[in-house]
Amino acid sequence: MNKIKTGLLAGSLRKDSFCLKTAKAAAALLPNGFETFFLEIGSLPLYNEDLENEKNLPPEWLNFRRKVESLDAFLFVTPEYNRGMPAALKNALDVASRPKEDNKWKGKPGAIISVTVGKLGAFGAYHSLRQTLGFLDVPILNQPEMYISGAQDLFGKNGEFINEGTRLFFASFAKQFANWALRFVSIK
Ligand SMILES: Cc1cc2nc3c(=O)[nH]c(=O)nc-3n(C[C@H](O)[C@H](O)[C@H](O)COP(=O)(O)O)c2cc1C
Repeated sequence: MNKIKTGLLAGSLRKDSFCLKTAKAAAALLPNGFETFFLEIGSLPLYNEDLENEKNLPPEWLNFRRKVESLDAFLFVTPEYNRGMPAALKNALDVASRPKEDNKWKGKPGAIISVTVGKLGAFGAYHSLRQTLGFLDVPILNQPEMYISGAQDLFGKNGEFINEGTRLFFASFAKQFANWALRFVSIK
């Protein structure tokens, strides 16, 4: 049986990133028919349209585009940098959006989780990311809206949710994301 290949993108490059922990913990709650793949975005050269030809195309772009193309759905977990999404995440979206007639994100379902150590749930980052994903034609799960505050208090030593209420909240999210993805992709 084919599984739904789900790409995980963490907008932070930090080794101990709370976004990364959140992405992994949420992915672990997805049902059986889902297989997850972490997409590395930190080594992608900055997007520059001058490089869009066979001779100059950075191999990291090519590999990333192929990887995005091979996947069925995406979970985007973003921190907030100055009320928006971080440059690294925007760069990754831009890289796989081109060439324009071959946008690799197009039509593939996604969900957003925004994460902060602050109190406002990284609301600004959530919506800056949603704005770009809308343009890239990624159908985004509407509910539940996942604005995660106080991320420094959520995880145990092994990246597990320490609070049962939090785990249940993410389990409910994972179920709804799975149902959302299944509207667009089928398991054969
Ligand atoms: C450049 C920069 C800008 C930031 N701006 C915001 C912000 O606008 N809102 C917010 O809630 N947190 C902000 N933070 C704090 C992040 O929420 C915090 O660093 C968080 O842990 C980042 O996610 P990570 O743990 O996945 O790296 C900022 C952090 C950095 C480094």
